[in-house]
Amino acid sequence: MRHLGNTLKHGALAMTLIASAVHAMAADGAAGAAKGDPDARARATVAAMTLDEKIQTVFGYFSTDFKGTAKPKEGVPFTAGFIPGVERLGIPHQQLTDAGTGVASQPNPSPRQRTALPAGIATAASWNPALSYAGGAMIGKEARLSGHNVMLAGGINLLREPRNGRNFEYAGEDPLLSGVIGGEQIRGIQSNHVVATVKHFAYNDQETGRFKVNVKIGDAAGRMSDLLAFQIAIERGNPGSVMCAYNLVNGAYACENDYLLNKVLKRDWGYKGYVMSDWGAVHSTIPAALSGLDQQSGWPFDQSPYFNGALKEAVENGHVPQARLDDMVQRILRALYANGAMEHPVRVEPEKIDFAASALVSQQVAEEGIVLLKNRDGLLPLSDTHRTIAIIGGHADVGVLSGGGSSQVYPIGGSPVPNEGPKVFPGPIVYLPSSPMQALAKRLKAKIVYHDGKDAAAAARLAASSDLALVFATQWTAESIDQPDLSLPNGQDAVIAAVAAANKRTVVVLETGSPVTMPWLDDVGAVVQAWYPGSRGGEAIARVLAGEVDASGRLPATFPRSVDQLPRPALDGAGLPEGTRFATDYDIEGAAVGYKWFDKKGHKPLFAFGHGLSYTSFKYTGLAAAAKDGAIDVSFSVTNTGKRAGKAVPQVYVSKTGAGWEAPKRLGGWDKLALQAGESRTSRVAIDPRTLAVFDSASGKWKIAAGEYTVILAEAADAPVTTVKVRLPAREFAAGGR
Ligand code: GLC
Repeated sequence: MRHLGNTLKHGALAMTLIASAVHAMAADGAAGAAKGDPDARARATVAAMTLDEKIQTVFGYFSTDFKGTAKPKEGVPFTAGFIPGVERLGIPHQQLTDAGTGVASQPNPSPRQRTALPAGIATAASWNPALSYAGGAMIGKEARLSGHNVMLAGGINLLREPRNGRNFEYAGEDPLLSGVIGGEQIRGIQSNHVVATVKHFAYNDQETGRFKVNVKIGDAAGRMSDLLAFQIAIERGNPGSVMCAYNLVNGAYACENDYLLNKVLKRDWGYKGYVMSDWGAVHSTIPAALSGLDQQSGWPFDQSPYFNGALKEAVENGHVPQARLDDMVQRILRALYANGAMEHPVRVEPEKIDFAASALVSQQVAEEGIVLLKNRDGLLPLSDTHRTIAIIGGHADVGVLSGGGSSQVYPIGGSPVPNEGPKVFPGPIVYLPSSPMQALAKRLKAKIVYHDGKDAAAAARLAASSDLALVFATQWTAESIDQPDLSLPNGQDAVIAAVAAANKRTVVVLETGSPVTMPWLDDVGAVVQAWYPGSRGGEAIARVLAGEVDASGRLPATFPRSVDQLPRPALDGAGLPEGTRFATDYDIEGAAVGYKWFDKKGHKPLFAFGHGLSYTSFKYTGLAAAAKDGAIDVSFSVTNTGKRAGKAVPQVYVSKTGAGWEAPKRLGGWDKLALQAGESRTSRVAIDPRTLAVFDSASGKWKIAAGEYTVILAEAADAPVTTVKVRLPAREFAAGGR
């Protein structure tokens, strides 16, 4: 698939500033790339290290006081992790920070304040790899200037479970979209000489029982779903590290899973970086070392310091070969050398952060991630025909919501809504001080009145006396907890229903981390999904609602009508006592995740994967497909047939009857084009060959069947525009190939 960077034509000043900001962030990286082969440099350094220095390099500390253990005396405090370096050999300290929305901090009296990107699911909703790169470059720069050379970001667990509390951190349900968006974020982060970490490997697709759940899934099904997302992200982003997950996979913990770490990741995919554990995800010394784990993270999260003295003894006794320990260290050092961490030592210098440039990147991502789900009679964009506008709920008068847990970024200026949510992890609930209401007030002549939305009747009365009602509905999701259902919490459905009954010109703006149901959908005029829109989310929401920028987000996940449509209507493990082991069977759907499941079962979703309206309209012509290099190249023209500029997101699905696919169709590629009114442009999309193949576990190969394939040009998974047929010869290629 062509890199979008060369098809997106943004004339706007914003993009020019973005481009220069991103270039500035990366330029010193390009100029100062590590000299010499990182493997050779790592090998030479390992050869010079003592046993104790090697052990010190594979054992990581949590940089925050925890479970009675004080944080290390060195390192950046109240952050994710610290591993001491070896000064005599030029090995820097490893200073780890979370995560995918920016430089996070562990709760403390004065958490450092940094720029928050929109949630990962919002970046995915932009379907814009270039923007994902720009977002990664921005947070990676802030990480570097905050003293970090490792950033625990690149979360791409598939959205198999719409109730998963961490869906907001990831990139949706499709392996190609997730892998590309995640891979580009990783590439952006690493452009700052900061090692990125793709996570959580693998199948950590729910939070309920995350430390104990045993995920059952077949090899082929996994290779064509969750593992494919990781494979593509690793190909595109070349992350220095992979974080293994908490859960078990087919009976073995992910961080001591020989199949996942040695067979799939290191042998089949040829991965040369290192596997770090999640914090508390290690359960042994010898099995973990022999199964491919390279670094224990976050002591004292685990029950024992497995990779400290115990590992040293295991090596001295021969239970863990010296060569395995050397390989662990080799992989860690290689990642640091390959990303220039030795040549570009980090310093804590936040005064050098250009927060204005960072904010612009965050806002651009938010704008392109906002999805216009419904727009009856062109109710949006807002205009000055409305003299009075009621703004209801969501703390829209002061800010926008963010997701909770280890990825929590504390915003410049602090949260304008203190004291909401749990007092302990994964709380508190943090709002970002970017008010949609204040941003709208700057743009509209209307008289705007705010109501907090806590009293449905009062909100309805205000709506009844206004020309238009804007209801902001929030769903706080967070690490370590799943949603009990798909409903908006705290009685917001009733508030929306009451407001819609009082005023048919009602617009709902969702700030959620996951798909939600909408019992009031038929009664409202418009619905916008803004997700957790980041440090400039209020501005972004206002610009889209006011039509200053087209609504160009498309759903990265299916919105079900109800949990009855899901492979597991009841969330496995829900209600079990903490620590109970249980299994969840992903072989129910296998690789048929999300829209593939809905297609396979004939379910009609509330909103389909890839859905999103624009303020203009597009025409697609000239679809052509040709076999090329054992895959398919597709071309077509897109014309903006409306009266205003807009961005199209043409999606290309592929289909093959009788080939044993898990579902009728798969996303094979896409493009995103910014077009002025009347403008036409030709798009070319190279279909990823894995989306044309079936993984054959017996041979360990991808197999493309000979025969006729259907190429579907679509505006969403449920909105085909036109199709064309193309024949392919049979082809097979290695598990790590394409
Ligand atoms: C957490 C998360 C992981 C995070 C790590 C460090 O438990 O699962 O995503 O990077 O610990 O905070």
